Amino acid sequence: MSTPSTVILGTGSYAPDRILTNAELSKTVDTSDEWIRTRSGIRERRIAAAGEKTSDMGVQAARRALEDARLTAADIDLVIVATFTPDLPMPSTACIIQQKLGLPTTAACFDLCAACTGFVYALDTACAMIASGRYRHALVIGAEKLSSIVDWKDRTTCVLFGDGAGAVVIGPSPDAGRGLLGTRLGTLGDTVDLLCIPGGGSNAPATPASIAAGDHFLKMKGKEVFKLAVRAMDEAARDILEQHHLRADQISLVIPHQANLRIIEAISQYLELPMDRFFVNVDRYGNTSAASIPLALDEARRSGRIKAGDLNLLVAFGAGLTYGSALIRW
Ligand code: ACO
Repeated sequence: MSTPSTVILGTGSYAPDRILTNAELSKTVDTSDEWIRTRSGIRERRIAAAGEKTSDMGVQAARRALEDARLTAADIDLVIVATFTPDLPMPSTACIIQQKLGLPTTAACFDLCAACTGFVYALDTACAMIASGRYRHALVIGAEKLSSIVDWKDRTTCVLFGDGAGAVVIGPSPDAGRGLLGTRLGTLGDTVDLLCIPGGGSNAPATPASIAAGDHFLKMKGKEVFKLAVRAMDEAARDILEQHHLRADQISLVIPHQANLRIIEAISQYLELPMDRFFVNVDRYGNTSAASIPLALDEARRSGRIKAGDLNLLVAFGAGLTYGSALIRW
């Protein structure tokens, strides 16, 4: 558990201009607006422009977060990018973002992969590094170009995902009662096959045959993932509330990972917390994986849903299966 010694100083987000609606998708795969809306709550998603990279989206979100924090590139000495769609297998997208933002060469930069839980993992990591006293200001970015790893012929997955980025700037907290109060991270073993990209890694380097078979696309057993996601998110939320001797109704706003409206509704029922305490934008962006929580957090702040003194709960799950929650006092 982190000590309450780090605080979010600014937030930012970015979504590409191109909107892909359910109606458009139903012209290319055997699906319908009605099926997608009723099964997932998604109406549309954003798709990166040709040549627009994960790093480009991360840079846009980071610039807005820096501006919000009233800090400049020179103030940043740590960058963590949560992504599983990096620009390149190596070097990290964080290094590319460092160069594009003109950050100091003394900044530590690395990527972190925990799929859709990536932002919560990265936030916890950055807060621990700042709490150590060895770093002062961190950029924590969630950025994904999922359109690049989705099989656009597979209706069971392509309707669910979208592109985007979100970022926060964190620094030491002047007030021990404010900031990241704690986290609860975890991983369910033996679930790799439920959600993975089977090809392209060191286990199965790309070959013409693997590419023809589509092994480099995301594969998912949706029904199984759904059940485990609800269980893991409920557990992560309950555990962290219990650790901090809090009731669910003391949370002013939950920022859940935006994968599926039905998953969010199930968590709302389990926690006995009405849906108006959950921030939802999955209808407009689909699942943007590691970008989903920081994008939602930024929209919630900019639309006035978060005020000084509020208590927020972040809760996520993703491939691994990883899961995690975080409590933030503003
Ligand atoms: N359009 C129309 N029909 C479809 C579509 C589609 N896009 N996709 C699947 N179907 C069909 C199926 O083939 C199936 O047909 P059948 O009964 O003839 O076999 C039927 O619809 C029902 O399919 P199910 O998979 O049972 O549908 P379900 O109600 O479970 O919803 C969904 C599917 C939306 C994928 C759901 O299971 C889900 O959201 N799961 C969690 C996924 C998730 O959140 N993943 C992200 C993890 S985060 C990360 O780390 C990337």
